[in-house]
Amino acid sequence: MTELDLAALRAEYARSGLTEADLAPDPMGMFRRWFDEAVAAGLHEPNAMVVATADAGARPAARLVLLKGLSDDGFVFFTNTRSRKGEELAANPACALLFPWHPLERQVRVDGTVSPLSADEVAAYFASRPRGSQLGAWASHQSREVGGRDELTAAYDEAAARYPEPAPVPVPDEWGGYAVRPEAVEFWQGRPGRMHDRLVYRRAATGWTTVRLAP
Ligand SMILES: Cc1cc2nc3c(=O)[nH]c(=O)nc-3n(C[C@H](O)[C@H](O)[C@H](O)COP(=O)(O)O)c2cc1C
Repeated sequence: MTELDLAALRAEYARSGLTEADLAPDPMGMFRRWFDEAVAAGLHEPNAMVVATADAGARPAARLVLLKGLSDDGFVFFTNTRSRKGEELAANPACALLFPWHPLERQVRVDGTVSPLSADEVAAYFASRPRGSQLGAWASHQSREVGGRDELTAAYDEAAARYPEPAPVPVPDEWGGYAVRPEAVEFWQGRPGRMHDRLVYRRAATGWTTVRLAP
């Protein structure tokens, strides 16, 4: 077996740089530009983001979630509101997002606060999901312990029997979505010699200020 030498595993970042002159006037415009470049580069699931929450005792937790919209209120995702993340966001609406776009030697970090989406927004998105995912949302009380795979399969089959086609599948009570209103958004571009570019937008009384951070 080959020895694991993590200390020697490293890459030099030299694809491009990020200057103050490159910045869009606001972070959502800048995010949109980088997101489009991530799509154009063929990244797998470029809308997959790490969502970090913390419970009332400040213990952090992180997981991948799909970005499903960019609204005036910010970054939108959907989930089970009684999941671990949902319970944590109810107790503490502070939230951080991370887009790990390593093939582009980039990451985007967002610090913000969540607000729940309206029932209409949730219903509109739920209706756009494949029927299987809709039934899965009924079958899964996300983050709670289950006795085994069979229990989940039985819950799915029960939901499928309860909501036969072609009638639409209603939105489960515990299913919902959040918008993360950004307070700060950092655009990080890898550079040679670990001299990376880090430009951060910070929300000001009106508009945004930008600063550069040491890498
Ligand atoms: C690529 C990817 C995308 C995911 N997208 C979502 C999502 O949009 N919503 C969601 O609730 N869970 C999503 N998950 C599952 C979450 O990572 C997580 O397992 C689940 O939400 C429960 O997290 P929690 O117990 O911390 O609440 C995704 C997982 C992966 C790997």
